[in-house]
Amino acid sequence: MSTSSSVTPVVQKRLEGKVAIITGGASGIGESTVRLFVQHGAKVLIADIQDELGNSLCQELDSSESITYVHCDVTSDTDVKNTVDLAISRYGKLDIIFCNAGISGILESRVVATDNEDFKRVLDVNLFGAFLGAKHAARVMIPAQKGSIVFTSSVGSVCASGRGHAYIASKHAVVGLTKNLCVELGKHGIRVNCISPHGVATPMMRSLMGMMEKDKVEEVVSSAANLKGATLEARDIAEAALYLASEESKYVSGINLVIDGGYSTTNPALHMQTNSLFS
Ligand SMILES: NC(=O)c1ccc[n+]([C@@H]2O[C@H](COP(=O)([O-])OP(=O)(O)OC[C@H]3O[C@@H](n4cnc5c(N)ncnc54)[C@H](O)[C@@H]3O)[C@@H](O)[C@H]2O)c1
Repeated sequence: MSTSSSVTPVVQKRLEGKVAIITGGASGIGESTVRLFVQHGAKVLIADIQDELGNSLCQELDSSESITYVHCDVTSDTDVKNTVDLAISRYGKLDIIFCNAGISGILESRVVATDNEDFKRVLDVNLFGAFLGAKHAARVMIPAQKGSIVFTSSVGSVCASGRGHAYIASKHAVVGLTKNLCVELGKHGIRVNCISPHGVATPMMRSLMGMMEKDKVEEVVSSAANLKGATLEARDIAEAALYLASEESKYVSGINLVIDGGYSTTNPALHMQTNSLFS
């Protein structure tokens, strides 16, 4: 017979005592994750290149030095190394890194017109930047024999769009990196996962859609969604990052957590054509 003592108590602060770095933490999904991690008791380093936004987020959320903004270009080995070292010198350890910084690049649909420098830049930020974050985090997590590394990939890692070849390639590569690191780092107690969001009305997405209003972007994304009655928001991705960062996912490693309301499970192209024949 069950008794009340067998009921697991509700854990209010799921990251109490944890130290996290969030790259791209000044805006969008990263910013939302900073807010959620702080609510859950984590000490957070916001690593970004938008200094004004990052600093003002720090000031808004905390004055007791449990949040730090650090200028960190994720494509710079020195910047990423310094950010990880700062986590150790200021907070004594690093439990979590959320390698989330990313850029879309030019979403050109013609490979022959794709700009070479733009292609390299997207790979540099989205893939090499994620690699550097994991590399320097692993440097301090291996001796501690624990840690959680989380990347932001994209629904584009499981469902190609035909545009932005560098972006789609980079996000596929992040999934590959997740799996390979999961194999290598598992023996050190380090979990490695990634999250693949569908369209979220962040500054990146709004700018891709010609600075469309947030509500309008959400309307457009929702109109193409499989799941109706819900709108994907940055907070939903932050909740996934919280799960993968916390002890609640203690045996989860190597996954690509796709948050797309089932969008990528179906290809409606033929269905749309046959529907139009009979309508
Ligand atoms: N918004 C979406 O629809 C969507 C969908 C799938 C995946 N994603 C991914 O989510 C992540 C976050 O994007 P977002 O939508 O929140 O966009 P965003 O532009 O609001 O935030 C991205 C942040 O990354 C930072 N950044 C860019 N280059 C950097 C660099 N070299 N070093 C450090 N920081 C850098 C930016 O300054 C910004 O603060 C990205 O990896 C993006 O590819 C977004």
